[in-house]
Amino acid sequence: MNPKVMIFDTTLRDGEQALQASLSVKQKLQIAFSLEKCGIDIIEVGFPISSPGDFKSVQTISKNIKNSRICSLARCITKDIDIAAEAMSFSNSFRIHIFLATSTLHMKSKLKKDFNEILEMATLSVKRALKYTDDIEFSCEDASRTTMDNLCRIVEKVIDLGVKTVNIPDTVGYTTPNEISSIIKNLFERVPNIDKSIISVHCHNDLGMAVGNSISAIQAGARQIEGTINGIGERAGNTALEEVIMAIKIRENILNVSTNIKHKEIYRTSQIISQICNVPIPSNKAIVGSNAFSHSSGIHQDGVLKNRKNYEIISPSSIGLKEMKLNLTSRSGRAAVKHHMNEMGYKETDYDINELYASFLKLADKKGQVFDYDLEALAFINKQQEELEHFSLNFFSVQSISNGLSTASVQLLCGKKIYTESSTSSNGPVNAIYQALNRITHFPIILQKFQLVAKGKGKDALGQVDILVEYKKRKFHGVGLATDIIEASAQAMVNVLNHIWKANKVNEKIQNLKKK
Ligand code: KIV
Ligand code: ZN
Repeated sequence: MNPKVMIFDTTLRDGEQALQASLSVKQKLQIAFSLEKCGIDIIEVGFPISSPGDFKSVQTISKNIKNSRICSLARCITKDIDIAAEAMSFSNSFRIHIFLATSTLHMKSKLKKDFNEILEMATLSVKRALKYTDDIEFSCEDASRTTMDNLCRIVEKVIDLGVKTVNIPDTVGYTTPNEISSIIKNLFERVPNIDKSIISVHCHNDLGMAVGNSISAIQAGARQIEGTINGIGERAGNTALEEVIMAIKIRENILNVSTNIKHKEIYRTSQIISQICNVPIPSNKAIVGSNAFSHSSGIHQDGVLKNRKNYEIISPSSIGLKEMKLNLTSRSGRAAVKHHMNEMGYKETDYDINELYASFLKLADKKGQVFDYDLEALAFINKQQEELEHFSLNFFSVQSISNGLSTASVQLLCGKKIYTESSTSSNGPVNAIYQALNRITHFPIILQKFQLVAKGKGKDALGQVDILVEYKKRKFHGVGLATDIIEASAQAMVNVLNHIWKANKVNEKIQNLKKK
């Protein structure tokens, strides 16, 4: 068996940083479960000092994830490290990831420190983190623009202190495959204690070379690759992990390494993350794009029919891509729900079908189509997270006249009370419905994005509406799915209203705590 390359996923930290609307604890937990199921070795679950919400999600994930190692980010600041350790204390094996800029540019213009001060800060922080765990990762931020002498000195120092993973980030996506290879080779040649640590790389994609750079680093000796599924992340994104993982599998004969990943989970994980993060996958995206396995030209189709290998280097089934399955809706029976759970690899003894089916029906009524990841969430996410929504749409009606006004009436259940409102608009029925909802809730919302796509094929397709709104300088994302696109639009807004309502509740709690 070839040596292993550890796969480190930072979707919930570096990826989340770049999303238009932040994820809820429940959504982050769903993502963490699916990464764990995919066999990801290390999941970076957040930056707990950054907000109480992040702290809470790191804590919740640490309680629930058992088979992947949990990791949290901290600056070289004592409080950051203490809070990271506290947030992960429910997990029996966790990693603290500390980072500090080492390039002359960052040291001078960002940190206003010289290199000796940087060495001192790194030393104090590594010692502090070692009080909590022996699994410390140290990142030399902006490593690809750091002088080789400084990089060798700091890497030797932190390994000496007991750091087990040293990460070489290409923070601004500046390096090239040859250059990163030479950086890694130089470290192996010049750092005497390098064999005591795993060398990792973390590449950003500003020049579109993140995956190429990561592969090059592996060939030079790196044994941990950091990135995100679908390449989500700051600016042009991070290394797309599914591409690196499949390159390792398909070209194992020249790369001579392997991973612990369960390849058949890749497609599912990619879909879940795209849906939850509201980041669509481009159709021509390698490995997981909808076109990645379709053949269009006559010559190619003929070649594939004669022998798939003529034009196909990866089989769709190897990443778990199956033929379109029947949609799960409120019309589906227990057998369909069981079948989907079975397909995802769960035995009947893993969950309670009666409970699952009852909550499935409730969700299907609200959402229209239920996805595999919803089923997983219903079956396994702690009951305490299954709060009832405050707002729900009881009824709506719209009337639209060409070149005229649209009229909408809505009935909204708010907690236990029912409110009814109507409105007219010259901007169409969706606008009329949104105005009517607003007359009930009075939330000062600015609609920033509205996107409608068809989910599924032909007449069975459902309309999915994704909206992004601004409310008191914060962004909220809502999704609605229904056969009727007006209903999907209304559901997306009701989804947003529920997010806002919850955020207001959290705020109230924080204010009350401050008063005490
Ligand atoms: O890009 C970067 O340098 C980072 C570090 C925190 C690892 O994300
Ligand atoms: Zn990064």
